[in-house]
Amino acid sequence: MKTRILKIDRHNPDKGKMRAAASVIRRGGIVVFPTETVYGIGTNALSAEAARKIYKVKGRPSDNPLIVHASDMKMASKIGIFPKRYYKIVESLWPGPITFVVKARKTVPLEVTGGLKTVALRIPEHRVALELIRESGVPIAAPSANISKKPSATNAGHAMAYFSGKVDVIIDSGAASIGIESTILNLGTFTILRPGAFPAERIAAAFGRKPIIGVAASGIADADRASAPGMKYRHYSPDTPLFLYTGAPSGLAGSMAGIKGSIAFVGSDESCRILRGRCRTIRLGSRKRPGEIARNLFDGLIKLDAVGARFAVIESFSEKGIGLGIMNRIRKAANHTQFSTAAQLKKLAARLPEAGVRTAGRKGQERRDAASGML
Ligand code: TXA
Ligand code: MG
Repeated sequence: MKTRILKIDRHNPDKGKMRAAASVIRRGGIVVFPTETVYGIGTNALSAEAARKIYKVKGRPSDNPLIVHASDMKMASKIGIFPKRYYKIVESLWPGPITFVVKARKTVPLEVTGGLKTVALRIPEHRVALELIRESGVPIAAPSANISKKPSATNAGHAMAYFSGKVDVIIDSGAASIGIESTILNLGTFTILRPGAFPAERIAAAFGRKPIIGVAASGIADADRASAPGMKYRHYSPDTPLFLYTGAPSGLAGSMAGIKGSIAFVGSDESCRILRGRCRTIRLGSRKRPGEIARNLFDGLIKLDAVGARFAVIESFSEKGIGLGIMNRIRKAANHTQFSTAAQLKKLAARLPEAGVRTAGRKGQERRDAASGML
């Protein structure tokens, strides 16, 4: 399939290009489009057949439901049933990086909800996304634009690497301004199923009620209804084995001393400065600005694989505000393999095959599994 790339200015979208993309959605084709969180891979949410295509292209298990994107409350209310007492609050928080799980109306195909009686809904805060939905005249079902288990695309370049030749259109509107996915709140149980761009603290303030932060929040389990238990934990993963450093920033250099071979580090500008000259560093931004870390995180993880390091280390950040979402992604990317001392890192490194036998793709994943004791 030939993929059409449409460059569209996010502040002044070209009408003709928007119409072209919208007609692809309407007839059940696939359009990768920008949102403020990450890029989405979308299609007509009212078509079961179209939804099936998304699962296939992403390599996503069909019991893992999609998020339905609406352009206004009227459209959202045709898809899901909002508890009366929350309607005004939901309306005030949208458009924005928060997804609500509510009871689904019969209009939503089971393929979109993964067979559940609930549906995840969001109005994105991005002009191109909103105009695409409006122009299509239908809600758009869209998971994040990534091959299943890989880091989400935060710019069109990432999306092209994943989906060129596999989707009808990729819209390029530059880098996503937030960089991690929306927060998912189940309005029935008032539980955060996935922490993300919208801080839990702001949910509490808006609703006057503290959300339950599910086990999913830390990244230890997932809102995803995954098919196999071990699969549940792996997400946002680079092919390069990644270990999470959980100690204090001051101990980082010491804990990485004595490791031989090509290693890379992904982390704050501050830590990269300390490690400069000792290993390849991928800078995510200043530790003082969590928004910057979020914006660069997936890009950093995607860049990591181009380095070709034997393994990489990533560091921990505060879990306040958007930090909870950041750490959720990082823990999963590191496959929950963590260390805080030089001795622990040495042990993890010793479990990896020798340098020089690095292979990509599935083999790389097997190597990661072996390192974390999952095989
Ligand atoms: O920021 C975002 O949310 C992006 C952009 C494109 O909007 N989308 C996104 O979609 O991250 P996706 O498919 O990668 O993540 C959707 C998550 C999955 O973890 C899925 O299991 C969960 O939402 N989900 C969807 N419907 C659900 C439901 N009815 N109940 C529980 N979880 C649900
Ligand atoms: Mg996703």
